Amino acid sequence: MSNRDPNRVIIFDTTLRDGEQSPGASMNLAEKLEMARTLEALGVDVIEAGFPIASPDDFAAVQAIAKASTKARICGLARSLKGDIDRAAEAVKPAGDRARVHVFLATSAIHRQFKLNKAKDEIVKQARDAVAYAKTLIDDIEFSPEDASRTEPEYLAQVVEAVIEAGARTVNIPDTVGYAYPSDYADLITYLRKNVKNIDQAVISVHCHNDLGLAVANSLGAVRAGARQVECTINGIGERAGNCSLEEVVMAMRVRKDQFPGITTGIDATKLYGASRLVQSITGLPLSRNKAVVGDNAFAHESGIHQHGVLKNPECYEIMTPASVGVPTTNLVLGKHSGKAAVEKRLQNMGIEIPEADMPKLMEAFKTLADKKKEVYDGDLIALVEVAVRGKTLTIWNLDWIHSSAAAGAGVGAAALATATVRLSKGGEAITDAATGDGPVDAVVKAINRICGVDGTIEDYRLRAVTKGGDAQGEVSLRAKLTSQDQTVVVGGKGLSTDIVHASAIAYLDAVNRMGFQVGRLDYRTGASG
Ligand code: KIV
Ligand code: ZN
Repeated sequence: MSNRDPNRVIIFDTTLRDGEQSPGASMNLAEKLEMARTLEALGVDVIEAGFPIASPDDFAAVQAIAKASTKARICGLARSLKGDIDRAAEAVKPAGDRARVHVFLATSAIHRQFKLNKAKDEIVKQARDAVAYAKTLIDDIEFSPEDASRTEPEYLAQVVEAVIEAGARTVNIPDTVGYAYPSDYADLITYLRKNVKNIDQAVISVHCHNDLGLAVANSLGAVRAGARQVECTINGIGERAGNCSLEEVVMAMRVRKDQFPGITTGIDATKLYGASRLVQSITGLPLSRNKAVVGDNAFAHESGIHQHGVLKNPECYEIMTPASVGVPTTNLVLGKHSGKAAVEKRLQNMGIEIPEADMPKLMEAFKTLADKKKEVYDGDLIALVEVAVRGKTLTIWNLDWIHSSAAAGAGVGAAALATATVRLSKGGEAITDAATGDGPVDAVVKAINRICGVDGTIEDYRLRAVTKGGDAQGEVSLRAKLTSQDQTVVVGGKGLSTDIVHASAIAYLDAVNRMGFQVGRLDYRTGASG
């Protein structure tokens, strides 16, 4: 790729594809579109928008993103099968000359034997044919030899050479199972650069999973060895332990310029925090407080010695500033007398743009909160945007009200005395039901299950106080295991309220409302030829 800037690293975001494969991270169409808009504003070069053959919803989402996009390349994933490639090409077509199809086929010995039951030569031929076919439909083709890091290097080189010859202009070297070690992985990139005779005709890409916590380290090592595309996700979400985290890999290259001389990306780092919050909000997957770059504690200094040092000079303990990654630092307090202009200004300062049409909804939620809570902080506002504006996109069941009570004390049977009465409505019909449970949240869950006809339990539950103080809003993020009509799925949900049982009810119902998006989807790892 001769006219590319050799120092520019292409950021390929796969939050909407690999990221969405995290259990419980499914997103609806409106959420995917919002995510894609945010990724474009962040400056990612390529958005892998989904796996179009997986389901009609996936196809529709990739196509809608391709239509709505303005800057980024839009990519659809396909196994090395004609049907997959046709679907992917059709879905990304509206992106015009920014359309990309990403074809993959496993190459490692273990995948050859147990998943594909194919010989080496057959795989080379299938990969070459798939790329050549895809090239007749779309010009920009990427190929991934799945499980590349566990593939014999000589054989990998042979596959890579064949797909470049067939027209692939990006060759991705996935560490599919997160097994690679930074120096070995960098050596593999160096090996391919030396031993694939047409390698200069393609960009080398890396795609690292985080099973050993090495996804970012491996990606960085590969960039130093000459890879020029990094595949990553916001907050590192993805299959199993996740993918390389976009915010970490980008900030590592930026903060450690000494290790990456001249290297640039197109990322506007001041939008990283907003993008991270959006992913948390949409997927309901919470971040650990100590997550690098965007975690709640990433810039918090607890010990007196650290606080003293930071006050004298932040560089004593901070290698990047909160502002450089978009963490809100000013806490101009809003209250019930603050108007739309003040709210909008605060949001703009945090890099959050709200469509005009959504402002009335946000202001209504703001006034309700300001009536309950004297001071509304930046964190409150972000949470309101997430729930009041973004969270209402998929409502099937509405929560009208709940009433819950729990027995106090630790006497025998006390916990089981918790009761909840819940009223839900759907399309003009309202249903009220009641249940008892081991505590008020359990009772609410059981009442919701009865009304919605699902069998569900909470698998993971987290409560976070959005701001400080006794009147702080509680944000509940949970993952629910839900079964309906013989299908079981794990779905995330989120709720916000000054009352934690109410926040839990909202979050659980959010998960129930989302479950439809996970049922009946094709897993891209299934299928003997893929
Ligand atoms: O992890 C992986 O190998 C993948 C491929 C489809 C690129 O996600
Ligand atoms: Zn992957």
